[in-house]
Amino acid sequence: MKNEDFLEVFNKKLQNLIPKSSKVEEAMNYSLLSGGKRIRPILIKTICEDMMVDIDLVWHPALAIELFHTGSLIHDDLPQIDDSPLRRGRPSCHVVYGNDFAILAGDGLMLKSFCVLSQSPANENVKAVLFREFSRSTYDVLIGEALDVEYTGKRQELDKVIKMYAKKTGGLFSFCVASGAMLSEKFHLIDKLSKLGSLLGVWFQVVDDLKDALSDETAVGKTVGRDKILGKPTVVSIVGIQKAENFADKLLKGVVKRFSELGMNGTVDFLKSLAK
Ligand code: IPE
Ligand code: IPE
Ligand code: MG
Ligand code: MG
Ligand code: MG
Repeated sequence: MKNEDFLEVFNKKLQNLIPKSSKVEEAMNYSLLSGGKRIRPILIKTICEDMMVDIDLVWHPALAIELFHTGSLIHDDLPQIDDSPLRRGRPSCHVVYGNDFAILAGDGLMLKSFCVLSQSPANENVKAVLFREFSRSTYDVLIGEALDVEYTGKRQELDKVIKMYAKKTGGLFSFCVASGAMLSEKFHLIDKLSKLGSLLGVWFQVVDDLKDALSDETAVGKTVGRDKILGKPTVVSIVGIQKAENFADKLLKGVVKRFSELGMNGTVDFLKSLAK
């Protein structure tokens, strides 16, 4: 299935997930349906195609990951965290609905992600594994984001920052990459693919740091320049732009090579186009 066709169905399903019967649900839908590149759902779909998983099994984990991810962005933008007033080309959730409703809307999207995963048509064995891995990955995001807050305004070692990235961004990427192993019932591959996903997340976060330092808001649709203003120790602030770019390129090359060795050619093509 082409990514455009997948996204058309995916976005329709997303539109029908949360009723619009209360203010908090309005806030949840506002952030969920305001764009977003949908990279994590496409990654799940691509990995699953490479591992011959039936598309009917792909929707629920893909929807769950996007719900959780959007919730984490709402919380990340709050004045108490990154204080970012622009997200996905629109005023951030807290700017429109207030900090109180943004906190609740973030919680709501995260909780809803578990409800959606529970509706997966996968067999009970696969569902138990999906839940185990999803809970672990989402908890990693929380720990990574908390380390990010803890490190803000302080000096930090490069390896500590990379470990923080492996959790705050690598958490969800590890679930996406390992989802193919879970849904195709190749459980012995879960650990290996999780680790690869986590490395991919580190790459994605370094590229995001570069965008924060180099891009303008209209290009990325979100507040930029915050990392420097907030005094965040990032790979870019520690090693500089050039070395961070080299680090990201090398990391991605290594990840692509490993997907290639696994014969996952759709994923290889997707990552190459994403890097461009
Ligand atoms: C932003 O993720 C947060 C990071 C982990 C860097 P995305 O760049 O995927 O954001 P959306 O979903 O497209 O808005
Ligand atoms: C990633 O970090 C956010 C989460 C994992 C929630 P950033 O703070 O760099 O993400 P952006 O730049 O605001 O999208
Ligand atoms: Mg942040
Ligand atoms: Mg942020
Ligand atoms: Mg950023």
